[in-house]
Amino acid sequence: MTTPPSLRPLDGRYSLAGEPRPPVPEATLEVCSPVDGSVVGRVHEYTHSEIDAVVDACASAQPAWADAPLDERARLLHRFADLLEAHADELAELLVMEIAKARKDSRDEVIRSADFVRFTAEEAKRIIGDAQFSDAFPKQHRNKLAISYRVPMGTVLAIPPFNYPINLGVSKIAPALASGNAVVLKPPTQGALAGTLMGDLLHDAGIPPGVMHVVTGRGSRIGDHLVQHPRINMITFTGSSETGRALARKAGMVPLLLELGGKDAAIVLGDADLEVAAGDIVSGAFAYSGQRCTAVKRVLVVRSVAGELVSLLAERIGRLSVGDPRDDCVVTPLVDPESAVRAEQMVRQATELGASLVCGGGRRDNLVEPTLLDQVTEAMDVAWVEPFAPLLPVIRVGSAAEAVELSNRSEYGLQAAIFSRDVDVATQIALRLDVGTVQVNGRTARGPDHFPFIGTKSSGMGTQGVRYSIEAMTRMKSMVLNMRPLDLEAVR
Ligand code: NAP
Ligand code: G3H
Repeated sequence: MTTPPSLRPLDGRYSLAGEPRPPVPEATLEVCSPVDGSVVGRVHEYTHSEIDAVVDACASAQPAWADAPLDERARLLHRFADLLEAHADELAELLVMEIAKARKDSRDEVIRSADFVRFTAEEAKRIIGDAQFSDAFPKQHRNKLAISYRVPMGTVLAIPPFNYPINLGVSKIAPALASGNAVVLKPPTQGALAGTLMGDLLHDAGIPPGVMHVVTGRGSRIGDHLVQHPRINMITFTGSSETGRALARKAGMVPLLLELGGKDAAIVLGDADLEVAAGDIVSGAFAYSGQRCTAVKRVLVVRSVAGELVSLLAERIGRLSVGDPRDDCVVTPLVDPESAVRAEQMVRQATELGASLVCGGGRRDNLVEPTLLDQVTEAMDVAWVEPFAPLLPVIRVGSAAEAVELSNRSEYGLQAAIFSRDVDVATQIALRLDVGTVQVNGRTARGPDHFPFIGTKSSGMGTQGVRYSIEAMTRMKSMVLNMRPLDLEAVR
């Protein structure tokens, strides 16, 4: 990798120009690029005893942080947002090489993250409590007043996935810090350098070092120790359903926010604007090579328009740029070779079972061609499994009812899209879909980031989104004023 001029690798850490940082010992964990196999940098692999020291430091520092005025915490977060923007190019460059995300998309991720942090800093000020008298409940008098407000959980463990190391990092860190928690961030290994730089920027912004720690290392080696740590008070995790499920089993009685995998369906009805549907489906399925939880991962189209839709999809897919993220290609190498091989196997199985390969299907190392499969049936893995690759199956259905049934039979329940000009029909279908969010005449997507983002079934638990994340990272605390009958005439 050509190191951006303002960044100097420093024993596994990145130092902003003119601001040398103390080296972290033994930066032994190599982060290799999916783009060309080069070593992008090295990070320290935290040991269990180092993690214990970090979590203890958080527990010591958190009460003072929670006591600091909210307006002051918000001010520091605004400063962090400014620093994110100021260092957008460096962060983006790391994302390009660590996770093979197109340069423009990488930069957009950083800018979106700065916006998220600012919005959160302000939203935290609007989280207010409530007060209620006792006499609303049967047989009670008006002699008690409950005053309820939100308090931080303590120390929040934040684990983002490789596909949005910065944005899904800040979507955990900012609500946690704004509401007075300490944070341990365990960045994904692909994205650990960007995560480390982001940690440095948080400290540069003035977030006390004890309150915010970045702990690097492979999830398979340090994840269990972090998740089961007795001084972690809340866990916010985004990643695969498999890891999330295992984490939930181990975490015990700790509140969890889990955003997991998906198999989002785009349902296309006979009256849909097919040009609009095709445009949204292709960008929804192939942006960042399909490595988005909210990617369109299957099309359920009624037979009357299936042929025309498939032609429109194929034509658009043929125009996608494929190759190097530094050239801003849409479809770039997948994060690891295993993911590419898995996608290739899914295509092979589908075609062996009778699916027709409309375009793509090829693979060079971990670069998978954008692939469209038609005539996919329930017997094929690609109908049910999340590929996390540029691979789109089309299932032809007889009716909207069949589409709803197929959508709901998935183990996942993140989002779905319905394309129809008839809003009544779309609404009735939306009510029947077992997913967190239904998009009407638009591609499946998480943002804007203040919207509620919800997964049902294997897609997760809890609600993400600025306000909802703050609520998930705080708990209610209540105080009850017990008022005795009083003769105010007697009070002097
Ligand atoms: P992953 O393999 O589950 O990893 C996610 C994170 O968990 C990484 O930071 C990983 O660290 C860490 N981890 C691994 N093993 C762990 C353990 N035993 N304990 C604790 N943490 C552990 O997922 P991914 O491949 O990064 O991301 C792709 C998946 O995430 C897809 O299924 C996608 O749908 C899902 N996703 C969901 C959403 C959503 O909001 N619903 C958003 C984005 C992605 P290492 O990198 O060091 O292994
Ligand atoms: O990968 C999962 C992300 O939460 C998706 O976010 O819809 O903005 O790409 P996005």
